[in-house]
Amino acid sequence: MKKVTVVGAGSVGATCADVLAQKNFLDEVVLIDIKEGLAEGKALDIWESSAIHHFDTRVVGYTNDYSKTKGSDVVVITSGLPRRPGMSRDDLISTNAKIVRSVTDQIMEASPDTIIIVVSNPLDVMTYAAHMASGKPASKVFGQAGVLDTARYRAFLATELNVSPNDIQALLMGGHGDTMVPLPRYTTVSGIPVTNLIEKDKLDAIVERTKKGGGEIVNLLGTSAWYAPGASAAQMAESVILNQKHIFPCCVRLDGQWDLKDVYVGAPVKLGRNGVEEIIEIDLNEEEMKLLHASAAHVHEVMEVYDNLNL
Ligand code: 2OP
Repeated sequence: MKKVTVVGAGSVGATCADVLAQKNFLDEVVLIDIKEGLAEGKALDIWESSAIHHFDTRVVGYTNDYSKTKGSDVVVITSGLPRRPGMSRDDLISTNAKIVRSVTDQIMEASPDTIIIVVSNPLDVMTYAAHMASGKPASKVFGQAGVLDTARYRAFLATELNVSPNDIQALLMGGHGDTMVPLPRYTTVSGIPVTNLIEKDKLDAIVERTKKGGGEIVNLLGTSAWYAPGASAAQMAESVILNQKHIFPCCVRLDGQWDLKDVYVGAPVKLGRNGVEEIIEIDLNEEEMKLLHASAAHVHEVMEVYDNLNL
């Protein structure tokens, strides 16, 4: 029995459940929300598309009934308020921290052995909050950010180069925010260094656009993105449950890598059945190290804001 619970039936959670169902590798996807009828309705709508998309995965929704999430292999937490124009992800901290903590407590009661993937913002600190609330090893509680951020970066590069986004291999590190650290040195197109294919000023502009990719959508829609964030979390859950051992940039607690400790930032990791099976300590040059440390320092400040909430 392979089972994923998605907490939060808003746009990100529902998209994640829909993508998971369409991947057709699970027995069951459970969608949970506090708003009466929302999870039930969205789950039913997804399930009603099963004959069209050819999937067998049962998709069910419940209002706040965590007993139905029992035995989940992976739980994806998407709960919390989304950003509105003019807000930074950090503005959401106090409200979303309370929600993430309470959700984590309930998840742990029903599925003590689960792996937790956090999607709520501010992402790095919400991952920290879920980790603290769960009492689980850090390898079992990690966050979705780098998969989304690299997906955006790959999409922008694919448009610019007029190539398949699938051929673009890319990596970025750091926090999920404007301080994220794209790594053009580690970006290739079917093995060809991207720097051979694109002029520096164009690449710099794409890197800048990637850093602000979440905000670009917020400004267009008046609320935050959901298709790419939901699909990114689903891809991470798949790598865990099918033990695919993909190397993805994920938000993880560092333990001395790159001279950073006890801070949650994006780094390349191997995702398999045990969660984060390895943090791959790639070589960074002086400039990249500087950017990563600045990004980690920013996350650290927000972690302190969280600590001072004394939840
Ligand atoms: C984003 O970058 C929601 O943080 C998410 O779109």
